[in-house]
Amino acid sequence: MAKLGVNIDHVATIRQARGGIEPDPVAAAAIAELAGADGITIHLREDRRHIQDRDLKLLRQTVKTKLNLEMAATDEMVGIALSVKPDMVTLVPEKRQELTTEGGLDVRINMQGLAEVVERLQDGGIIVSLFIDSDPDQVKASSKVGADYIEIHTGSFAEATEWKRMVTELERIENVVKLGSKLGLGINAGHGLNYTNIKKVAAIGGIEEFNIGHAIVSRAVLMGLDRAVRDMVDLIKYA
Ligand code: PXP
Repeated sequence: MAKLGVNIDHVATIRQARGGIEPDPVAAAAIAELAGADGITIHLREDRRHIQDRDLKLLRQTVKTKLNLEMAATDEMVGIALSVKPDMVTLVPEKRQELTTEGGLDVRINMQGLAEVVERLQDGGIIVSLFIDSDPDQVKASSKVGADYIEIHTGSFAEATEWKRMVTELERIENVVKLGSKLGLGINAGHGLNYTNIKKVAAIGGIEEFNIGHAIVSRAVLMGLDRAVRDMVDLIKYA
């Protein structure tokens, strides 16, 4: 059975909306683990819009499953990763203006630079994954630069509104899973996966872990709202 890595970035997004201390992603990670998550994923962005350096450091101490750090392949981030030592680093492209990670890494365009980053991280004992589109050439390039894992960007599948397009995207994912396995890469997948579309991708064998964030945090807000309102009503009523 494939594993679930829970991305808790959006818990930090809510905290940053007020610049305060709650909700704390460290507490969210503990709850996710108690509920059965196999790993915790966070993205420390250059602009620190959600996850902060403090979160990464505390999560390194508290996460008991596996800590996966998504980050850009920059000197600053490599330095942070080598000092904090998450279990896994997933290298992602990063643009300042984007709302979320928009596409996969173009591994082919910067093979030497990426190979160096992969090696530095691996020398520090960190497993390295590359977030790529479901493109066979990117899979081959990921293998060539020495990555341990690829994470297949499932955004194009998740955004497909027509049945035919969705089937095509699923086939592309299936093909790169086969190719990646043949090349000895571990395979994860994520982005845009939700309670409706997960079944189709999970039915493809060979994917080790799904990284899911937005859908889980969105559901948590709605499922938890009833209880949160009742608790406040009681406090007012019995004051
Ligand atoms: N995997 C990667 C590499 C990501 O950048 C993200 C978004 O931060 C996710 C998975 C999770 O995507 P979503 O929040 O859409 O579930």
